[in-house]
Formats: sequence, structure tokens, C-alpha cells
Amino acid sequence: MRLHKKRSSLVMLATLAVAVLLLCGARNGPVSAGPGLFGLPSLIGADAQQVICPRCTFVNETVNWQILPRLAPFTLASGDGAPSQDTAVRLCHDTNALHVRFDATDIDIINNYTTCNSDIWNLETVEFFVAPGPETPTVYHELDQSPNPGAYFASLIHNPNDKCAGIVGNLMSCPTVGVSWATGRVSNGWWATIVADFDVLVNLTGDARGWHSDPRQFGEQLSVLNPPVDNEPVEVPILFEREGRAPIPKVWRANFYRIDAHANGTIEYSCLHSTLTNPACFHVPSRMVGLLLV
Ligand SMILES: *[C@@H]1O[C@H](CO)[C@@H](O)[C@H](O)[C@H]1NC(C)=O
Ligand SMILES: *[C@@H]1O[C@H](CO)[C@@H](O)[C@H](O)[C@H]1NC(C)=O
Ligand SMILES: *[C@@H]1O[C@H](CO)[C@@H](O)[C@H](O)[C@H]1NC(C)=O
Ligand SMILES: *[C@@H]1O[C@H](CO)[C@@H](O)[C@H](O)[C@H]1NC(C)=O
Repeated sequence: MRLHKKRSSLVMLATLAVAVLLLCGARNGPVSAGPGLFGLPSLIGADAQQVICPRCTFVNETVNWQILPRLAPFTLASGDGAPSQDTAVRLCHDTNALHVRFDATDIDIINNYTTCNSDIWNLETVEFFVAPGPETPTVYHELDQSPNPGAYFASLIHNPNDKCAGIVGNLMSCPTVGVSWATGRVSNGWWATIVADFDVLVNLTGDARGWHSDPRQFGEQLSVLNPPVDNEPVEVPILFEREGRAPIPKVWRANFYRIDAHANGTIEYSCLHSTLTNPACFHVPSRMVGLLLV
């Protein structure tokens, strides 16, 4: 208990330090892209990565993905090199939502799931975990898309331990209110887009009755399912103030994942920012990159 308290106050201090850096950064004028921006590395490790999420531009009401930076390469979850097939992510936001696109090279697209919130992660799938604010989150959304239209997965995750053991999830509705999903196949693979309303992403309040243990947890079982606790308020720069609704912070935490199932039955797990886990576990929020909305 004492250890836990000590850790919390250290996290609070680190968070405040980041908030101060963020405020100074904002005062010093325009921000530039690049690693180390805003002091996030102190929270997420020496090899921290940060990602700029620009405003979307639209062509005929479709996001112009081509002009957005291609975030790649993915690294195996073990941290041990590159997966056999590439994945790239593109990101942007408008005033209502975060838009994410995955492009996955794939010679063998293996996923037979067809329905929402089925266990699509057993086979070919891309995943996006995201939480508002700069701190390492204990509650975040998991949004996954398989290569099959309609076969997506959406859950609010409570992860108290920064690892797969002990996580619980709260499945979102099918169809997911406030999230749009699309996927398609191309000659050398497949793509997926996930558009998540900020109203959904800033709402970390799950229905307490809905929390259940996640089948992907390894090892220890949870005897008590803890609903998420409210984080202590931290001053975080705001991207948008919104009348009568939660403001949208400039800084978020996120990570992006690929489960690549092969015809021979093997599966590779890769990440934009490796979770350094073997067996693979994507649920390591301290390894989420910083997303800076500009
Ligand atoms: C946008 O839509 C218009 C009308 O359908 C079409 O003529 C035009 O070629 C489209 N532009 C692009 C870039 O697709
Ligand atoms: C998908 O295929 C796997 C392996 O062949 C099988 O175990 C599973 O039941 C199938 N799932 C569905 C939804 O058909
Ligand atoms: C947040 O999500 C919960 C669970 O879906 C819902 O009951 C609640 O109304 C939402 N709150 C807001 C402010 O949208
Ligand atoms: C399975 O297939 C993948 C993709 O072709 C390949 O990289 C891997 O080496 C194969 N593994 C085995 C055990 O055959």
C-alpha cells in the first residue's frame, strides 16, 4: 500500500513537471515536431517516441491520407527486430474526432471472425489504444479492426498494473456509438480506418456492472474488479474548449498494434512502440507514445 502511494505521488510529480514543461512550451511559441518534445520521455523511457497528430484535410469528404506522415516501422512486441510484414499508421484529427488509418502488408489475410466484439484478436487484426492527457493511463480505450467489415472490437480497459495480468474491460455497444470503422483489401494486403469521436475518447466512465476480466490476461486472476478511479486533476493544455462538454487536451497517450496471423498457424505481434514483452502483451500503457494534437 505504502509503495503504491509513493509511486502515485512520484507519478503526480512527474505529471506536474510535464504540465509545467507543456505550459512553458506553449508560451515559447510554435512547436516543432521531433523526439523529446515537451519532456514526455521522462514518463515513457529513454527511447520514447512522440507523434504529431495534425488537422485532417478532406477531399470530397474523405480524409486525404496520402499527405499525412506514415508512422512506421512496427517492431515485434518482444522488441527483437522487425515483423515479417510491414504495418504503417497515419493519424489526424478534426474538431470532433481522431482519425486513424492502418495499412498492413499481407500475403495471407487470416481472420474468419465476422461480428462486432467477437475475439477478433486471435487472428489478423490491427489495434489502437488511446487515452487523453500526458500521464501513463490506467484507463484507456481499445479499438480493434479485423480485415472483415463489421468485425471490430471496442472496449474501455482498466489496467491497474501496466501489464496484461489483472486488466478488465468494459465492452462498448455494437454498433459502437461514436466510432466509425472501415476496412478493405488491396493487392498486397489490407487497410483499416477507425474514426473515434472525442466525446467517446474523453469519457473514461465505464458502467461498473460491465467490467469483466479480459481473456487475454496472462497468469493471475482478478478476484475483485476495481472500477476506474478518477485521476487527480492535472493542468493540461487544451486543444479545444467546448461549450458544455469536456475540453479536448492537446496531449494524449496512444499505441498502435498489429496481430499478423499466418497460414502456417504462427502469429506475429508488433507495435509502433514495442511493449518489450514476451509472450506478447500489448497492454503496457507506460509504453504508449505521446500524441501531440496540433
Ligand atoms: C470530387 O468529386 C467530384 C464530383 O463527384 C469529382 O468530379 C472530383 O473528381 C472528385 N475529386 C477527387 C480528388 O476525387
Ligand atoms: C475461426 O477459425 C479457427 C481456427 O480454424 C476456429 O477455431 C474458430 O472457431 C473459427 N471462428 C469462427 C468465428 O468461425
Ligand atoms: C460515458 O460513457 C458511459 C458508458 O457508456 C455512459 O453511460 C455515459 O453517459 C457517458 N458520459 C458522457 C458524459 O457522455
Ligand atoms: C510461418 O509463415 C511466416 C510467414 O510466411 C514465416 O515468416 C514463418 O517463418 C513461418 N513459420 C513456420 C514455423 O513455418
